[in-house]
Amino acid sequence: MITVNDILQKKREKKKITALTAYDYPFAKILDEAGVDIILVGDSLGNVILGYENTLPVTMDEMIHHAKAVGKAVKNALLIGDMPFMSYQASHSRCMENAGRFIKEAGVKAVKLEGGKGVTEKIEALIDMGIPVMGHVGLTPQSIHKFGGYKVQGKDKISAEQILKDAEALEKAGAFSIVLEGIPYTLSEKITEALSIPTIGIGAGPYCDGQILVTHDLLGMSGEFKPKFVRRYAETAKDILKAVTEYKDDVQQGNFPSIEESYKRTADYLKVLK
Ligand code: KIV
Repeated sequence: MITVNDILQKKREKKKITALTAYDYPFAKILDEAGVDIILVGDSLGNVILGYENTLPVTMDEMIHHAKAVGKAVKNALLIGDMPFMSYQASHSRCMENAGRFIKEAGVKAVKLEGGKGVTEKIEALIDMGIPVMGHVGLTPQSIHKFGGYKVQGKDKISAEQILKDAEALEKAGAFSIVLEGIPYTLSEKITEALSIPTIGIGAGPYCDGQILVTHDLLGMSGEFKPKFVRRYAETAKDILKAVTEYKDDVQQGNFPSIEESYKRTADYLKVLK
């Protein structure tokens, strides 16, 4: 069972950290079997699974529902629950209660929340309560309206310095790792060198201590849109479409099921029916 300390140790040993998202039992089981270090029940649940336009409508109850299923499958990876929009922003007490729900109800081992300096007090309080925290800076999807869309962050000097400062503040507050999302690779390299805790990149180039992707993106299950930073390792949606179409054709043409795929009556059963 991978712990937060193992993740920190990986940075010291310069070993790359692997992370992916999961939202249900069967996917989580496969990811865990493949040996990824971190499984994140991301609030990308909203756009990937629940059909929302973005992550903002996702509720704590929805996160718990999916995290419970994932938690049942994960035996080895470090399981992290992503705090959805408005589950931690409004008050310390809501933040504590919701993080506590993740631990008690879904069995996650740590939580992730978005933001820099503005969330450090909450991170300190969570750690005081015994809950490890992963930070998340750069293109934080819960702030898309502030950014005016999904735009790469930290491209100019002022915003790059701000992201670096935010990352340093998260480390100081006690975060055990930080997701760097949607920033230039030169900036993530600088942050990675400046911090003693691991950086986990998504759209942040190769110089982070680890990488995370939305699993459905790498499997080719998220439609035609493919951001530059996603590498597709499979075309699963196309395979599923082919399989389902074949099934439909077989049923329509009377080719499924065959007699071999059907149960036979026993002799006694036949007598009763006569
Ligand atoms: O919600 C999510 O899936 C995430 C990761 C992609 C970092 O925050």
